[in-house]
Parts: sequence; structure tokens; C-alpha cells
Amino acid sequence: MEAEIERVLLRREQIAARVRSMAAEIADVYAPLDGGLTLVPILSGAIIFLADLIRELPLKLKIAVVQVSTYPGASTKPGDPRVLIELNGHLRGRHVLIVDDILDTGRTLQCVQARLAAESPASIRTAVLLRKPNADAALADFVGFDIEDRFVVGYGLDYDDHYRNYPHIGVLRGELL
Ligand code: XMP
Repeated sequence: MEAEIERVLLRREQIAARVRSMAAEIADVYAPLDGGLTLVPILSGAIIFLADLIRELPLKLKIAVVQVSTYPGASTKPGDPRVLIELNGHLRGRHVLIVDDILDTGRTLQCVQARLAAESPASIRTAVLLRKPNADAALADFVGFDIEDRFVVGYGLDYDDHYRNYPHIGVLRGELL
């Protein structure tokens, strides 16, 4: 895989340190609130971020997953986000934190937020590991890193479902896209 990565943007140690500090920011907001917390990761990109984040969160929480297809197959051009599966949990009256790998145009988060708002949660917030410059900054309440507008892979992020297990976050060589 290494040979297919043009440049490493974020090394695994940097990511781990930021995930720890994000967890502290998130805990500061939710610890004083009454009512339960449910994290809603957007599959599949958020799985590694979620797995690391929840183990740094000293809060009682539940997980309810949603799956959204934004880039079908090997395309890197966003289509209309589609919420593909039902939520596997009840959100009524709960504090909901949507967890995603990357905020690009914001269409995915907007689509998921609208879907979850219909479940009458107590609150909805969003946590993204990465944010690209095109994004409406206000869409994410918690942000790991602001990055340049390049297609990145690794740490859960894929190209055609590959590279999710690459431990760093890197820019894929242009000729592979
Ligand atoms: P939007 O535009 O809806 O995009 O904010 C968010 C979703 O698009 C995918 N995405 C990427 N996936 N490398 C990836 O592997 C990227 O650079 C990238 N940019 C956007 C991702 O699925 C995210 O949830």
C-alpha cells in the first residue's frame, strides 16, 4: 500500500493524540448533561475513528449505526448521499453525536442530520476527524484536523473500499484515482 500513497498527511501517532484530545472536548460537553448519549457512526468510513474515540470517552454511551453511500464504487465525485439502512437503535430523547471520518461538501452530514432529527432526539451534534476547506464549517461541532482539498485514504477512509487499514492518513497517488 505504501507505494500507492503520494504523501502522508497525518501519522498514526498524531491521529491518536488528537483523538484523545477530541474525546476530552466531547466529554466536557456531555458529562454535565442529563440523559443518555448515543453515538451514531456513519459506516464504513467512521469505524476506526469510532473504535478509537469511544475507548477514550469516560461516558456511558450507546452506539447506533447508519450507512450512507456517497461515492459508489471507485468514483471520487460525490453523488446524492443515500441513507441505505435503518438505524439500529432508538434515539427519542437521547443526546445524539454523529461521528464521521471526513466533512467535504457537507451533504452527507446534512442528510444524516435530517434523518435523525425525525427520531426526536434531545440534541444532535457532529464529530468529524477531518474537514476539507469546501465545507460549511458550522456543520461540525467537533473537528480533528482541517486538511487540504485532496482525496485522502487510510484510518478508515477508502478508495474503492481499499486502504481502510492503512494506519496513517495519506494522499493517494493521482494516477490511481
Ligand atoms: P460530503 O461531501 O458529503 O462527503 O461532506 C463526506 C463523505 O464523502 C466521502 N469522502 C471521502 N472519502 N477520501 C475518502 O476516502 C476523501 O478524501 C473523501 N472526501 C469525502 C466520505 O465517505 C465522507 O463520509
